[in-house]
Amino acid sequence: MATSLQRDLIDPVVPPGPGGTGAVAAGRSTAVRVRNLRRTFGAQRVLAGLDLDIAPGEFVVLLGASGCGKSTLLRILADLDHDFAGEVVVPARRAVAFQAPRLLPWKSVWRNVVLGLPGAPDRAVAMAALEEVNLAHRADQWPKVLSGGEAQRASLARALVRQPDLLLLDEPFAALDALTRIKAQDLVAELWQRHGCAVLLVTHDVEEAVLLADRILVMHNGQIAHAMRVDLVRPRQRSSVSFVALRRQLLEWLGVVH
Ligand SMILES: Nc1ncnc2c1ncn2[C@@H]1O[C@H](COP(=O)(O)OP(=O)(O)OP(=O)(O)O)[C@@H](O)[C@H]1O
Ligand SMILES: [Mg+2]
Repeated sequence: MATSLQRDLIDPVVPPGPGGTGAVAAGRSTAVRVRNLRRTFGAQRVLAGLDLDIAPGEFVVLLGASGCGKSTLLRILADLDHDFAGEVVVPARRAVAFQAPRLLPWKSVWRNVVLGLPGAPDRAVAMAALEEVNLAHRADQWPKVLSGGEAQRASLARALVRQPDLLLLDEPFAALDALTRIKAQDLVAELWQRHGCAVLLVTHDVEEAVLLADRILVMHNGQIAHAMRVDLVRPRQRSSVSFVALRRQLLEWLGVVH
């Protein structure tokens, strides 16, 4: 049976619903709480009793084979899909950025950044976010003139103006060339440290996962099959022995090496 996403659950704390089911509040030690999440498409069961906790400010990376249900999970957490069963508790302030930046071509970059925010479009708010992603000089241009990396940074700015407690990123760097990708990864790490929001990042790139994550999860058969805490000091060196060991472990879990 479908159930609604619970909102406004970080502050104030809401007591559990009657009989202990339904709305269970996320306390201050939890940004995301998912229990027994199920989602089917016709006869296909994509999420099969998935459990997930994310602490406030924690950077979690989600890996898993193509088609295993990562985007399905993100869409539910982003409140873009309501046809699920189970318990989902997320912060009221969430923002999402996808692989494709999804900017409206008929609005300038700065207007795209503040699109959907309550009240009149505030240029100063947009400019502050664009400065954070080093894109202030593109504020008055149309999205079509942006490079892929610039468009992705505009998409990040649009997420940041929402001052999210939870930032959901679905393969945001996948379409970028290698050099732009490295810069974008560094930028996300910097923004995360400055804003202190929880992040759930979906990627296929195990190096990206070890580079950025506090914790890495691997999805399989509709559940979280493996979890790894990454305690390496930041910024992380891709060539360090421990980095390489974690990367190898992830590839084993993903069935790429044995
Ligand atoms: N709206 C939908 N209708 C029908 N099937 C869907 C729908 N959305 C997703 N699916 C199916 O659910 C499964 C999981 O899709 P999802 O997009 O979550 O995978 P993913 O792990 O994000 O894959 P990728 O790494 O390729 O992005 C796929 O088999 C997909 O075809
Ligand atoms: Mg996906």
